[in-house]
Amino acid sequence: MTMAINRREWIQQSLLASAAMLVAGTTGAYGCASGFRERRIEGEPLQLNWNENPYGPSTSATEAVNEAMKNANRYPDDYIVKLKEKLANLNSVKSENLLITAGSTEVLSLLGQHVGLKKGEILTAYPTFPTMIMFGERAGATIKKVDLDEDNRFDFNRLKNAITNKTTLVFVCNPNNPTGTEVQTIDLKAFCKSVPENVLICVDEAYIEYSNAGLAGSMVSLVSELPNLIICRTFSKTYGLAGLRIGYAISNEANIIALRNRHLGFELSTGWAPLVAAAVTLDDQQFIDMCVKKNNEGKQIVYDSYDRWGVKYNRSSTNFIYTRHDRFHKDVVAKMRERGILITKWPDMYDHIRISVGKLEEMRTFVDVVEDFLV
Ligand SMILES: Cc1ncc(COP(=O)(O)O)c(C=O)c1O
Repeated sequence: MTMAINRREWIQQSLLASAAMLVAGTTGAYGCASGFRERRIEGEPLQLNWNENPYGPSTSATEAVNEAMKNANRYPDDYIVKLKEKLANLNSVKSENLLITAGSTEVLSLLGQHVGLKKGEILTAYPTFPTMIMFGERAGATIKKVDLDEDNRFDFNRLKNAITNKTTLVFVCNPNNPTGTEVQTIDLKAFCKSVPENVLICVDEAYIEYSNAGLAGSMVSLVSELPNLIICRTFSKTYGLAGLRIGYAISNEANIIALRNRHLGFELSTGWAPLVAAAVTLDDQQFIDMCVKKNNEGKQIVYDSYDRWGVKYNRSSTNFIYTRHDRFHKDVVAKMRERGILITKWPDMYDHIRISVGKLEEMRTFVDVVEDFLV
């Protein structure tokens, strides 16, 4: 991995970068204190804006967390080892290939800052999930964006043609946020293999369990072959644990050591509760299957109305739907908020809005209310 930087240097630079971010203020394009979140409104809005899993956490996770409180006086190092063993088995990798983090945001921010502090370049297709770009940009990275293809999917020909000797890292999100589209596994594999070894590839698999390909669409089988590949995953989506903050990176051992050494929490940013909740939810296939099934039913409620109204959208491989804005009032996001329903439009989503999939009754409410703003 081209992350040659010693630990002290990294910590100094990270602290400087964080301080600079604080001084600059962070109410950025994504409109909230963290630079990304929308402000929550009073009362109990219908939150169709952050792609959370409305069915989580599982009962098994809640029980395990309650039980884990007994150990809250102890550091959870041993449990990190246990979770890694479980993840290693499930993904046919070794524990040494894994880094446990407080949400996959930590992996994305570490990589973004790594490229930024080297004054390197992040290449991606756009629109995509912007966390790495934001951290990279703030730390000094150049960002190069190519367009998605006409079906709003990552376009590997465009990406390949855009790789130059300036490219430090290529970011691929599959399935992609905000478009909800997935690429063919075979195409992504071929692309990863074609990227020069001195260019890092980060594949963000936050929504992979919801996708048509499922975990079989993961790039994890390439980890032993490609020293430049880093995969990030999260328990925030299908596993229903967004509020507990737990995710992980999968890569070759050298990259994992490099990331761990630069991680300000030295892998101790997660606690007992997220660790045990993640472990039991991984085993709770019934819960996962229920979440995926209900999510598909929720999407169908929206598709049926959209089809009736002639609204264009991408069939989603995730728990959100990328929806053409043009059949709705231009201020539909604000109008829906006034009615207590939060949906999303990032400034650079161009002519689309994004609707997260809630429970079935919530999606029925959504279609009832949004119909008032059809134009
Ligand atoms: C594509 C993608 N990657 C990563 C994340 C970060 O998730 P977390 O930090 O909760 O793991 C999100 C969150 O919405 C996402 O959509």
